[in-house]
Amino acid sequence: MRVGRALWRTLCRVCGIVGYVGEQPALDVVLEGLRRLEYRGYDSAGVALVADGALASAKAAGKLANLEKVLSGDPMPAATTGLGHTRWATHGPPTDRNAHPHLDRAGQVALIHNGIIENFAVLRRELEAAGVTLVSDTDTEVAAHLLAAEVAAGAELADALRRVCRRLDGAFTLVAVHAGSPDRVVAARRNSPLVVGLGDGENFVASDVAAFIAHTRDALEVGDGQVVEITPDSVTLTDFEGDPVEEKRYHVDWDISAAQKDGYDFFMLKEIAEQPKAVADTLLGRVDEAGNLTLDEMRLSDDELRDIDKIIIIAAGTSYYAGLVAKYAIEHWTRIPCEVELASEFRYRDPIVGRRTLVVVISQSGETMDTLMALRHAREQGARVLAICNTNGATIPRESDAVLYTRAGIEVAVASTKAFLTQIVACYLVALYLGQIRGTKWGDEIAAVLRDLSAMPPKIAEVLRAMDPVRELARSLASTTSVLFLGRHVGYPVALEGALKLKEIAYMHAEGFAAGELKHGPIALVEQDVPVFVVVPSPRGRSVLHDKIVSNIQEVRARGARTIVIAEEGDEAVVPYADHIVRVPQCPTLLQPLLAVVPLQVFACEMAAARGFDVDQPRNLAKSVTVE
Ligand code: F6R
Repeated sequence: MRVGRALWRTLCRVCGIVGYVGEQPALDVVLEGLRRLEYRGYDSAGVALVADGALASAKAAGKLANLEKVLSGDPMPAATTGLGHTRWATHGPPTDRNAHPHLDRAGQVALIHNGIIENFAVLRRELEAAGVTLVSDTDTEVAAHLLAAEVAAGAELADALRRVCRRLDGAFTLVAVHAGSPDRVVAARRNSPLVVGLGDGENFVASDVAAFIAHTRDALEVGDGQVVEITPDSVTLTDFEGDPVEEKRYHVDWDISAAQKDGYDFFMLKEIAEQPKAVADTLLGRVDEAGNLTLDEMRLSDDELRDIDKIIIIAAGTSYYAGLVAKYAIEHWTRIPCEVELASEFRYRDPIVGRRTLVVVISQSGETMDTLMALRHAREQGARVLAICNTNGATIPRESDAVLYTRAGIEVAVASTKAFLTQIVACYLVALYLGQIRGTKWGDEIAAVLRDLSAMPPKIAEVLRAMDPVRELARSLASTTSVLFLGRHVGYPVALEGALKLKEIAYMHAEGFAAGELKHGPIALVEQDVPVFVVVPSPRGRSVLHDKIVSNIQEVRARGARTIVIAEEGDEAVVPYADHIVRVPQCPTLLQPLLAVVPLQVFACEMAAARGFDVDQPRNLAKSVTVE
């Protein structure tokens, strides 16, 4: 079957990229780096080395093990300069031929790439007209030929790369080596991640610090539109014009063990278990001695924030659902109207955005292209942009006016879990901060919410300790074909998130609904024994909401549904209508998503495992989506 370009595009994710120059065997360093990036998902891999004035390269479709098999049959020469790549197909199917690196005709240049070169067709025609035969279906190969031509015309390697970058449209990270430059790796980025690892007598470039963290924790940011050249003893950073740019170095404060599974079967399980700590860390140090909420990373002045008359939250996937939860708290605490918008829709609907709009972009990775493009659009319209992000120094926080980092730690599993909880917490901190400076919340009210938030980590841990029946339930439902999720108020986005988790890792039909919408259509889906999760708000304080959802449970049960009710301790009203009850500790309704989503994460994880699927790397998905 032929797969159309549109589908290949939707499949494009961040490729794994590593470049090395130093004293160690480059092949070992590069392969180890690629292994550390495996969690991102990929469908082919390749390496290139510079040895004795020539290039050696090898590539293979499939997992790294396939490449290693090729290498064991045909060993590469010893070398201390090299690069490696794990590819997610964009242009052309995942074959040996389309795997990176791509070489020029004379075998002088090897180049790897993440992203999409949008004007590749024009460039390809130009190369073909000049007599170059392209051997792959990729957009990347044109860059390899262009680079080789620039070097052949006399440009020094980094300058040649700058010239090529100036000709490319689209998003890219490029890394290249040249046969005539044994101690040199050059790299460039535009709207695609790239970071430098600074070693002693060795240097690295990579799409993610995980690739080199076993060697060094000192890193250097490569900004958008910049080219970097590394040798064993130097790092030179310029813009695409060749002008030097200011270096921003930083220290990576997590270690390699953070990227391991710590004894859990899956990263996802480990990350679910880390949620109490992730929430606690995100709350750490946010209150000064006077009891005022302080958000140190905020670079917007209080006056600017007092001026805000509308908030638009923009995000994708799970981060979008965190935004939907946050809307309830933001409007309640600040009385500022808040819209929540899918990043991929935002800039195509002529949104009403102005100087008094605060756009809050939420992104775990900080590299999601839909969100980045929405952010840029918002800034062009004059909005102030605050990023909530889990990845230090990523593109989205770098391009925002202010940043609040969630402190979830590295999230490896493709299905987002701990990021979701910390995103909600971060949004709540922003809401409280706005409430504080705008005077819509008294200091003691803010202090009370902060106390409630600080009480959440042990409550999340309590939910986690009681998950065995949920796992058992998942196993017993492994052959089910469809699961529905219902919620009201903040429970509604939790229902959506529960359904998303099940779809993405257990490949099961799952849908989340606002429980009140059931009667307007979705109730027709309810048939005998279909499992229906219901997220029930606390009966304390919001009894109308609670009563309404109890009626909804009765409605679906009367039609044969198997009801799985998530309700707080002491809520007895749901007991008669629940086939299964999952208890969560009592807490204010606005904070309940931090507890109620946990059983849904665990259910999805166990379901995926029971159905024999790859929990951490689900099909067609990977961690960071860097194309629109
Ligand atoms: C779902 C999931 C995705 C991401 C979405 C946004 O489990 O991981 O839906 O939430 O792709 O990613 P970030 O937050 O990195 O912008």
